[in-house]
Amino acid sequence: MDKTRRTILVTSALPYANGSIHLGHLVEYIQTDIWVRFQKMRGHDCVYVCADDAHGTPIMLRAQQEGINPEALIAAMHEEHQADFTDFLIEFDNYHTTHSPENRSLSEQIYSALQDAGHITTRKITQAYDPEQEMFLPDRFIRGTCPRCGTADQYGDSCESCGATYSPTELKDAVSVVSGARPIERESLHYFFRLADFEPMLREWTTAGHLQAEVAHKLDEWFEQGLREWDISRDAPYFGFRIPGTDDKYFYVWLDAPIGYMASFRNLCERSGRDFDTWWKADSETELYHFIGKDIIYFHALFWPAMLSGAGFRTPTAVYSHGFLTVDGQKMSKSRGTFIKARTYLQHLDPEYLRYYFAAKLGDGIDDLDLNLEDFIARVNSDLVGKVVNIASRCAGFLSKRFEGRLSSICTIPGLYREFTDAGADIAGHYEAREYGHAIRMIMALADQANQYIDEGKPWVLAKEAGREQEVQDICSAGLNLFRVLIAYLKPVLPATAEKAEAFLNIEPLSWDAVETPLEDHAIRKFKPLMTRVEKEKIDAMLEDSREHLETDNRAVGKPAMEPLAETISFDEFSKVDLRIARIAQAESVEGADKLLRLTLDLGGETRTVFAGIKSAYRPEDLVGRLTVLVANLAPRKMRFGISEGMVLAAGPGKEDLWILQPDDGAQPGMRVK
Ligand code: MSP
Ligand code: ZN
Repeated sequence: MDKTRRTILVTSALPYANGSIHLGHLVEYIQTDIWVRFQKMRGHDCVYVCADDAHGTPIMLRAQQEGINPEALIAAMHEEHQADFTDFLIEFDNYHTTHSPENRSLSEQIYSALQDAGHITTRKITQAYDPEQEMFLPDRFIRGTCPRCGTADQYGDSCESCGATYSPTELKDAVSVVSGARPIERESLHYFFRLADFEPMLREWTTAGHLQAEVAHKLDEWFEQGLREWDISRDAPYFGFRIPGTDDKYFYVWLDAPIGYMASFRNLCERSGRDFDTWWKADSETELYHFIGKDIIYFHALFWPAMLSGAGFRTPTAVYSHGFLTVDGQKMSKSRGTFIKARTYLQHLDPEYLRYYFAAKLGDGIDDLDLNLEDFIARVNSDLVGKVVNIASRCAGFLSKRFEGRLSSICTIPGLYREFTDAGADIAGHYEAREYGHAIRMIMALADQANQYIDEGKPWVLAKEAGREQEVQDICSAGLNLFRVLIAYLKPVLPATAEKAEAFLNIEPLSWDAVETPLEDHAIRKFKPLMTRVEKEKIDAMLEDSREHLETDNRAVGKPAMEPLAETISFDEFSKVDLRIARIAQAESVEGADKLLRLTLDLGGETRTVFAGIKSAYRPEDLVGRLTVLVANLAPRKMRFGISEGMVLAAGPGKEDLWILQPDDGAQPGMRVK
């Protein structure tokens, strides 16, 4: 065990209160929970807090749409989220909300400190405004026709089809998705946080080991682009905290969200007698870690440390970012049934399967993590059921039937047992470094050794021979002792199985070093199966249930009604369109365009370069070699990133649900599509 007892505060990002927890979120909460459970097992004073992120326009509008007040909406979501987390064995020491008195007072305190120090400025800006709803419109609540390529129904800031970026005022036929009214422009006074004041501090902080190397590298780019002032105010109506000294200005949700970490902790202090200042004062000796997804690095690695330091608080010890979840190699998709909510999963499968699978695949970096469903079944069944749990079931029967559940008075494999306990230091090192995949690999190698030991001892053969009773008891006792060490190592990942195993072994809850010495002359209880196999049918049922969620989710705010159909064209006009099968020879991201892929298409005899706004639906590497349909006689168009020689056909509601691929059977590049 570490010699000094550390004092550690850990957070996961606060989930928005307008949506359900899904398996993507769980990558983060499971990753953090394993780390926290590990620290607690090591005997450290580790506290894990989180909260719902309850403010902002989407939440306000969703409440309006449901005809309830925002407080009622966030209270219901708080319940739902908490139940999901509890059932996934995510054990927060406190789960609070950003819409709390603690958060209001801390937000005001931090804001005032920043203002007093001259880090807040104000100026007027012009924004789109919905005259009917009487509110300013965030870009994603405006839709219209792209001013560049004429594609209908695009977001207010960028075109998914051609990749153009623009201001909402340039959109043609812009409509507010809230009321359907045409937005007008309106000026208002905004408050800004002068991030650039903190450039020296941030350059120092971001390179001082508080971030993963790849993240620090990313920040270099942001420094090069210059640290811009951050707009921290929103005009009424807004669901949030009013800015002190104003009548109708509110803190932007992202200003008070990270402060929600502190507020949740303060709420815990009030209940538990911990001292808030010890943990948050500028020279605090405690450790502070934030686990986040890679999409919110800017907020946590720049704004947040700057705010804390500007207001006289301590900065984080580290911010740990992780990648995004894909399912079977693709973004989660509602239509494929792979947009799986936490609750839907729980209706079919054991939460520990997923905890184990994520652990086995998690490392310390920001690469995306793939939930491959075949692999999920294979891994859980072969590792957990086949290897680990199997050790206990192989040994327990003999001990209870023949030896009244008593282990031998001496552990007869001191060497092997020592090997198991010696491995603990490396395994702990891997957990500490968030290299859970390495930890799991080591643990499974030990499980193989334990099984091999039992295989070689063949207690089931000895049990039939006279005079070999003692050997049977010794082998089975040794097997259970090895099992106990494995369970201790897996406990951060499998807390429920560990608890069942502790009950069966008749021992106190395992700490990391409890396994230093083996159990000898010790009575165990009756063995009950610890875990069952994953069945493919359950997975299929879960996917099917997830697919059904499509309809309910379509009611979410921001989905416009179907656009009116365009003018009828004659058959002759239609037949001028030359549609050809093309093979995607290359697909690559386009620097500076979030939504575009550059496709190199093989038409049989010739090659074309086409830009397609499909990055939200496909990873470039998944497209190479596949077939698609090309409008081959479309005049080339000059785009910001080059010339597009044609257009590929896509269908679907957008985002991850967009289809451009053709079945491969029989089609050849260059074939005409009829
Ligand atoms: N409310 C903000 C965070 C505020 S923290 C002061 C937010 N909420 S979120 O609900 O969108 O996401 C919560 C966390 O889950 C984020 O860290 C996010 O990166 C993570 N994930 C959300 N979807 C994810 C995947 N599909 N895969 C992995 N992590 C994902 O952002
Ligand atoms: Zn466009």
